[in-house]
Amino acid sequence: MTQASSKQQRDILVTSALPYANGPIHLGHLLEYIQTDIWVRYQKMRGQNCYYVCADDAHGTAIMLRAEREGITPEQLIDRIREEHQQDFSGFHIRFDNYYTTHSEENRYFSEYIYRQLQNNGHIATRKITQSFDPEKNMFLADRFIKGTCPKCKTEDQYGDNCEACGATYTPAELINPRSAVSGATPIEKESEHYFFKLPEFADFLTKWTRSGALQPQVANKLAEWLDAGLQEWDISRDAPYFGFEIPDAPGKYFYVWLDAPIGYLASFKNLCKREDIDFEHFWKADSTAEVYHFIGKDIINFHALFWPSMLYDAGFRTPTAVWAHGFVTVNGKKMSKSRGTFIMARTYLDHLNPEYLRYYFAGKLTGGVDDMDLNLEDFAARVNSDLVGKVVNIASRSAGFITKRFDGELGEVTEQAKLKEFIEAGKELEAFYEAREFGRAMRRIMELADIANQYVNDEQPWVIAKQEGQDEKLQAICTNALNMFHLLMTYLAPVLPETAKASEDFLNAKLDWNNRSERLENHSIKKFTPLMSRVDMAQIEKMLDASKEEMPAATGKPSQPANPEAIADEIEFDDFAKVDLRVVKIVKAEHVEGADKLLRLTLDLGHGERNVFAGIKSAYNPEDLEGRLTVMVANLKSRKMKFGISEGMVLAAGPGGKDIFILSPDSGATPGMRVM
Ligand code: 2FM
Ligand code: ZN
Repeated sequence: MTQASSKQQRDILVTSALPYANGPIHLGHLLEYIQTDIWVRYQKMRGQNCYYVCADDAHGTAIMLRAEREGITPEQLIDRIREEHQQDFSGFHIRFDNYYTTHSEENRYFSEYIYRQLQNNGHIATRKITQSFDPEKNMFLADRFIKGTCPKCKTEDQYGDNCEACGATYTPAELINPRSAVSGATPIEKESEHYFFKLPEFADFLTKWTRSGALQPQVANKLAEWLDAGLQEWDISRDAPYFGFEIPDAPGKYFYVWLDAPIGYLASFKNLCKREDIDFEHFWKADSTAEVYHFIGKDIINFHALFWPSMLYDAGFRTPTAVWAHGFVTVNGKKMSKSRGTFIMARTYLDHLNPEYLRYYFAGKLTGGVDDMDLNLEDFAARVNSDLVGKVVNIASRSAGFITKRFDGELGEVTEQAKLKEFIEAGKELEAFYEAREFGRAMRRIMELADIANQYVNDEQPWVIAKQEGQDEKLQAICTNALNMFHLLMTYLAPVLPETAKASEDFLNAKLDWNNRSERLENHSIKKFTPLMSRVDMAQIEKMLDASKEEMPAATGKPSQPANPEAIADEIEFDDFAKVDLRVVKIVKAEHVEGADKLLRLTLDLGHGERNVFAGIKSAYNPEDLEGRLTVMVANLKSRKMKFGISEGMVLAAGPGGKDIFILSPDSGATPGMRVM
């Protein structure tokens, strides 16, 4: 009988926060998915009935506007982004049981159902509120869609709620010269009817729930402060145009994205239940004995620990067993920054480094608390190289060769019973660490064991024994002991390093089975050892930072242009325009630039000499399709030193970006060197 089957199998549902479907996954996101994935893999390894679901958070104004800018429907946009997100997650070995979208029929059903329940219970209020409105776009503007000059420090182009320059907070009405970031129009004030969830009526429920053990102590304390300060009704509606679900019996009113986002957890799970014939009710009914855990970032605690449990409770569902918040990621001690190259996208990381390095590094620093986590890149390389390559993998590489060469791949008998027992018993401590999300403590304990194993090999010196006559049995026993220790270390590391675990199972020709870990590998044949992990190379890290730093030059927008494509940039004098020398040029050569994600190098024939220009059009063009074509360039733009060389001018292009960038091609008749008038 296995150790798990003697206990009751737990039914566990786990979620990570749903990423917005309007941008790529970056290392800041990954901390959470890696943390959750490790916990889930651990539970599954122990034999629990554990499901991990997630989805893209697909609704809201930002997604609607971005789709419009790209000239596609929001549905097309969210499908594309979901595909990208799934690829990024699978690149990091994040293994969801279901990855869905909040724009689904299941989510519409549950959003309407829950809303109806709240309404029937008298917990929905309606009243008119006044908000900023864009008279050109005919839409209400949330604070972040209004820009203007900071009323305190007078910095231009600041968002409607706070100033990035001086940190002041204010209302959009206080901005000097406010304008819509969508159209550039001056906003007006307008009234409309909104729907509110009467959160204050849940104060007693929340006071109990937040102290029920469902939250980390620091989080529960923070919530006690909020509860003491008094709760406000929560505005759950937005006016059309909006990408989301229309509120029943309220034409032109939509559920605010934050209403249907957490309901997306239910919807994604429901979708999985249908596919795999799982009992949804058993997990979500009010008195459920199943466990439900939400992993989130500390910035969204209010949604998960105030609104969400109140909605569930009011609608007759069970509340979460726990909501676990984590802190933010910094890189080299600072906030992630595009200019420093530390705003690292999942894809850029994967182009340069092994995902398991990051999984291990994060695991090594994770606790059950909400502290921020610094990814110090030198420390990252040092940790991975010394712990995983230098300690763990080293044990196998020092012993496996002898078994293969001298014993035809056959292990002998374990002779170090006491040491093995210590390794097996350490599993109990590690179980407690994994369960409590104290992954850092788990990794430190595992490395202590790895030190013991290495010390054992150092003391026994199999390479010396191997040269002595008549010591075969001893040599085989030393290597068998060491490989049994390695087997246990990899069992304990499997939730963190799923690929290396798989490769180890293959090499050891044995499962990594936590619950049956006391079974020794004796008189058992293993396969030939192949290196399980290579060292982190600082040069690869540098390359990753460079790739993250890459500029967005010509053809993907100039810095002085408004972010919104419909808004026209500030007026200029004719004399300013007259300074720009535009010329027809022939693209004589177009080539990829090694290490650049977005750039092509163009050699342009100006009629009387050639120019080298870097253009950010790689996403839209294959170099060979450009050669021989005419285009228009700014010929008198001062040369700029870029990471990949000097750019001597700029080609003109139009379009929203991505695949839709079109270099301007003059009609036939033009020849290189002609002035554009
Ligand atoms: O903060 C965010 O990125 C949100 N998209 C998280 C949503 S989590 C859940 F509530 F859906
Ligand atoms: Zn300011």
